Amino acid sequence: MRKRIPAFVVVLLLLTACKPTQKNAAVTTFDPYHYSITKKVEAANGAVVSAHPLASKAGVAVLKIGGNAVDAAIATQLALAVVYPNAGNLGGGGFMVARLSKGETIALDYREMAPGAAHRDMYLDANGTANTQQSQLGHLSSGVPGTVAGLFAAHRYAKLPFEKLIQPAIELAERGFIITASEARSLNSLQPDLKKYNSVMPVFVKETPWKEGDTLVQADLAKTLRRIREKGAAGFYGGETARLIVEEMKRGSGIISLDDLQQYRAKSRTPHVFDYKGYKIVGMPMPSSGGLLLNQMMKMIEHRDIAGMGFHSVGAVQLMTEVERRAYADRAEYMGDADYYKVPVTMLSNEDYLKNRMKNYDPERATPSTVIKPGELLRAESEETTHLSVIDKDGNAVSVTTTLNNSYGSRTVVGGAGFFLNDEMDDFSIKPGVPNMYGAVGGEANAIKAGKRMLSSMTPTLVLKDNRPYIVVGTPGGTTIPTQVFQTLVNILEFNMSTEDAVFKPKFHHQWLPDEVMTEKGFPPAVKEAMTKMGYNFGKERSGIGRTECIKVLPDGRFEAVADNRGDDAAEGY
Ligand code: DON
Repeated sequence: MRKRIPAFVVVLLLLTACKPTQKNAAVTTFDPYHYSITKKVEAANGAVVSAHPLASKAGVAVLKIGGNAVDAAIATQLALAVVYPNAGNLGGGGFMVARLSKGETIALDYREMAPGAAHRDMYLDANGTANTQQSQLGHLSSGVPGTVAGLFAAHRYAKLPFEKLIQPAIELAERGFIITASEARSLNSLQPDLKKYNSVMPVFVKETPWKEGDTLVQADLAKTLRRIREKGAAGFYGGETARLIVEEMKRGSGIISLDDLQQYRAKSRTPHVFDYKGYKIVGMPMPSSGGLLLNQMMKMIEHRDIAGMGFHSVGAVQLMTEVERRAYADRAEYMGDADYYKVPVTMLSNEDYLKNRMKNYDPERATPSTVIKPGELLRAESEETTHLSVIDKDGNAVSVTTTLNNSYGSRTVVGGAGFFLNDEMDDFSIKPGVPNMYGAVGGEANAIKAGKRMLSSMTPTLVLKDNRPYIVVGTPGGTTIPTQVFQTLVNILEFNMSTEDAVFKPKFHHQWLPDEVMTEKGFPPAVKEAMTKMGYNFGKERSGIGRTECIKVLPDGRFEAVADNRGDDAAEGY
């Protein structure tokens, strides 16, 4: 990451040194050619944790010129769309859960939706066989993108003009930034798919291998960002950008139409809120299963002495595994976009129901999952989504998870517009019982229908203590997301762990089907051995599960922000 500092960076650094504070001050910025990764900061005024140091810096720059946590979350997401193309996006979707300084909690749904021409059996061939290639790669796998609508919907809670929030992203796209070793690796592994799923070759295609320290300039993406700056959401869902998306669809037999783009709206939802031992936990409602799953899992342990069992004790891991299994069985059967399917949320979160659900829990042995058709984790190594957590000194806390679904989504970049399209259609149940790329199965509740939003696992979460923000947390990881948020919260609230330990310590995952416990490198072999004797199957060990970004408010009111050490994730604050 070494290069001569160009003149514009010097100007930007000087601007930073001037520390402007007024509302109309320029967005101070940073040197995109020299940066390092900080895993933990303690800060008094505000903090941002995200998957990329430059995106976290963009968020903090906005806080410093008087933006609030929502401003910072918008700027961070836009910067991620440039510096973290695996998952940061304009062509995908996401969810924002926030607690605003006046005490209001909000949930914004900017999940992709099925195009108007989508239908239930669109991925089945003449024999009724599901074609997961088509739901996971290329033009037909994309839902109508929601991110840009979501950012503008969020902007009503922000303080600064949108033009300021998008400025760091425009500069990073136009002038480029130095890529990290892991970005170089992932771009290199992507080359065959890029060539296969694009007819207009994007800037990510390179004949010689990418390496750490290369500069990535994205001129087409910069133009798209400028159109959004000039025209607002219409700069994406209409005009030139929309035209380019529709043209791209035509080149690859995709079905997103101009009408779909113009119809798209972000939706304000009522957050899924529940109480856990006096803490108020605020999560995302349908079409994310995240809030409800977290609610179910936490309530199923609330009256058991999990703290007494101890972290990574056989008892605690076994109990949490059984709780996870039961919640995910409900997910497969009952959960989907509640605007299209009646999801029995009240019943599924009812305390008696959950107690009853644990009636057949046996602390001595595994309760086998009912085998319908075991799912398989098909593409576990390349999954990607991204989470960011933001907090400010005024009591605003924002938790955002956003995704293209798989790493680099459909692998298709909109020709001339420079951004990847998602492959979120695979999050629908494309055929009852057929596992999606995360091994999740589903049925009617999550069947494809035009206009419907596919069920998600994303779990942007806030924990409030005495009605003030206490924890801001979330992670990528497909179906492992809710279990990772669950375990991080149990680590802090029950095992009294430091934020770093709560995030960094190895985790595990059970999702009902396939009936196996997935563990991360470093998970204690003795626990596996003991649980194997109780009847558990352990799948292949994974190198990392999730990339959790967590901020905790310390007793003196300062913020402890921790970025996961499983990637380039970085914490920034001031
Ligand atoms: O919405 C969902 O549940 C998935 N599309 C999330 C994908 C994901 O987290 C991939 N990341 N690691």
